[in-house]
Amino acid sequence: MKRYNDYDVFAWLYNRELGWYSSIIFPFLKIIAGDNLPDGARILDLCCGTGHLAKILCENDYHVTGIDGSAKMLQYARRNAPAAKFFLGDARSFKLSAEFDAVFSTFDSLNHVMTLTELERVFKNVYTCLNKGGIFIFDMNMQEHFETRMKEGINSIFEKPKYLYIMRTEYDEERKLGKYTVTIFQSEDKFWKRSDIVLYQTWYPLENIVFSLGKTGFTAIKTHAFTHQRELQEVNENSDRVFFYGQKP
Ligand SMILES: C[S@@+](CC[C@H](N)C(=O)[O-])C[C@H]1O[C@@H](n2cnc3c(N)ncnc32)[C@H](O)[C@@H]1O
Repeated sequence: MKRYNDYDVFAWLYNRELGWYSSIIFPFLKIIAGDNLPDGARILDLCCGTGHLAKILCENDYHVTGIDGSAKMLQYARRNAPAAKFFLGDARSFKLSAEFDAVFSTFDSLNHVMTLTELERVFKNVYTCLNKGGIFIFDMNMQEHFETRMKEGINSIFEKPKYLYIMRTEYDEERKLGKYTVTIFQSEDKFWKRSDIVLYQTWYPLENIVFSLGKTGFTAIKTHAFTHQRELQEVNENSDRVFFYGQKP
């Protein structure tokens, strides 16, 4: 299986513009984890990106390991969170023995896993690397997100003094395929360097995700909708982002 590395070209911009999500969701990860995240826990940040969450976790005295498929994202992660350990790897195929108290995978990283069979492989790998009682928390974009925000098309230009970038979305309903296109112009001397990035995501019905978590062996499975007002709520058919929680018995 080819390692997922679609974020390599995006890493420079992601590091500047998109790390903010981690500081927003860290308190919610703690609320969802409750008493099952001991002080000093060993945490695996799966699909850790540029290490913004890893940095916050290290600052809160957790022992952090990060895995990501993009070597470029990891270059920033190593700088942002020097106290964490980072490995280049794929969520669908990594193998680590049972050594973690928690695995987090945030900012809809697992929507990049394009089939349910592959998502179940991710769940199995996570399950294997958790200690007994260890917890898994991840968030995913749901059908509602694809059929509203992605379909209507996010179409924005962001202009900064030294660079500008354009973000667009499209949604192919038949294939359940969301497409993000990002074009970056970076000022280099008298020239503008152009980079083009295309990223894909898909979604899974909540019942399928919960069923697959249970099939893998996770218990105490819970779901929470995360609203645009940044609140956790009960999931309903309008929920566009959902946090999933499962525990290894
Ligand atoms: C939206 S970013 C989220 C990064 C980070 N978790 C955060 O909250 O900022 C998605 C990340 O998932 C990684 N990723 C996606 N699919 C992956 C896979 N199969 N294996 C490893 N990393 C993957 C990408 O390289 C990217 O860094």
